[in-house]
Amino acid sequence: MATIGQRGTWSSRAGFILAASGSAVGLGNIWGFPTQVGQGGGAVFVLIYLACVVLICLPIMVAELVLGRRAQLDPVGAFSMLRPGSSWWLVGALGVLAGAGILSFYSVIAGWSVAYIWYTATGAVTGDADAIGTFFGTFTANGPLSVGLALLVLTTTGAVLLGGVQSGIERVTKLLMPALIALLLILAVRAATLPGAAAGLAYYLRPDFSRLLDPAVINAALGQAFFSLSLGMGAMLTYGSYLSKRESLITAACWVVALDTSMALLAGFIIFPSGFSIEGFDPSASGPGLIFAVLPRLFSTLPGGQLFGAAFFILLTMAALTSTISLLEVPVAHCIDVHKWTRRKAVILVTTGVFLLAIPSALGNGAVAALTRMPGIGVDFLTMMGTIWNNFALPVGGLLTAVFVGWVWRVDQAIDEVETHGASFPAKRLWSVLIRYVCPVAISVIIVYTIVSL
Ligand code: TRP
Repeated sequence: MATIGQRGTWSSRAGFILAASGSAVGLGNIWGFPTQVGQGGGAVFVLIYLACVVLICLPIMVAELVLGRRAQLDPVGAFSMLRPGSSWWLVGALGVLAGAGILSFYSVIAGWSVAYIWYTATGAVTGDADAIGTFFGTFTANGPLSVGLALLVLTTTGAVLLGGVQSGIERVTKLLMPALIALLLILAVRAATLPGAAAGLAYYLRPDFSRLLDPAVINAALGQAFFSLSLGMGAMLTYGSYLSKRESLITAACWVVALDTSMALLAGFIIFPSGFSIEGFDPSASGPGLIFAVLPRLFSTLPGGQLFGAAFFILLTMAALTSTISLLEVPVAHCIDVHKWTRRKAVILVTTGVFLLAIPSALGNGAVAALTRMPGIGVDFLTMMGTIWNNFALPVGGLLTAVFVGWVWRVDQAIDEVETHGASFPAKRLWSVLIRYVCPVAISVIIVYTIVSL
């Protein structure tokens, strides 16, 4: 596999699919998806989410990969190369900003996951639901600790990018993905056999259609789909720029989407049955702490629960790390490609900037919550960052990418890029319709509908 920063190619399609799925599968699947399902009213959110994945995100995934492979550049470079002298490079610039913005709150939650390796291994989080909830509350109220953990996550990410340890990542991901799937399956089986699991499954699988047209739910589902698939900010574009000309982009895109979506759905099969087995559980009230409150309860029902718990949080941390790497790589690649910084300078300065931005998210649940809480909106800084970047910046990035590929650079160029080297492009007519009409219209309608209803 090529070292990021030197324009090479991945060693194989499998290598690419691993790296791209490593970027896609992360906290978004295991922490974000169940949290959003809980706030979005259960199964109806799942339905809308799946529709967004298939109709909007899959075509945009193809578009990003095609752009990256054609241009062989970072997002800003790619847009300006394909339309020199225009303002389209701004779409790439939005992506570079989004990478830093998302990483700033992502690293805080990844830091919580690191701490929970220790807490579950040592048996510190046990007891009834109240005790576990209180534990999480006390833990996140310790602002300096959250800041320190976020710093640990960011420096580790920076260190990986500094060394360009792509082969290291490939090796880790190869082991990590099967281990994570196996552990999730075991936990899902255990969760399904808990008392109260049926209520959880019903919540997860039986849609309450009264919320089908709720703009907040639709917008959150769209944002979550972009976030989970690492779309809308040029991360897939950047990874596509390292993809060999011979590989079929379409097969690769379908693999990444299928893998990522299965992992998210699987996480729901763990969280909701276990949650509903707890007396008085309210999925909508848990917010970002959902998995940290529910999972330790599940582990305490398993023989060897401390071991399972620690293994789970180790895998979650690793999954988060392969995602933070792709988030940091976008602004870093940009500073190298466009501003001609050295990789070392880029990594150090970007990581420091992201860390400063992470501080309010890390402190938001604690003593200074009053300062970072937006008056009148009632959300903490971390949730607010999530909403701004996921629900607005990513879909807007995706919308502009679709318009660019569908109408400016044009679909025949894209189809040509896929097919020139002998790969086939199944369903290219369907893809053209989706990218030209369905994606731009659907995303615009959802964004306008959300803004109007605010
Ligand atoms: N997709 C990752 C997750 O689900 C997060 C992520 C990594 C991401 N790279 C991204 C999100 C680029 C948006 C854009 O955890």
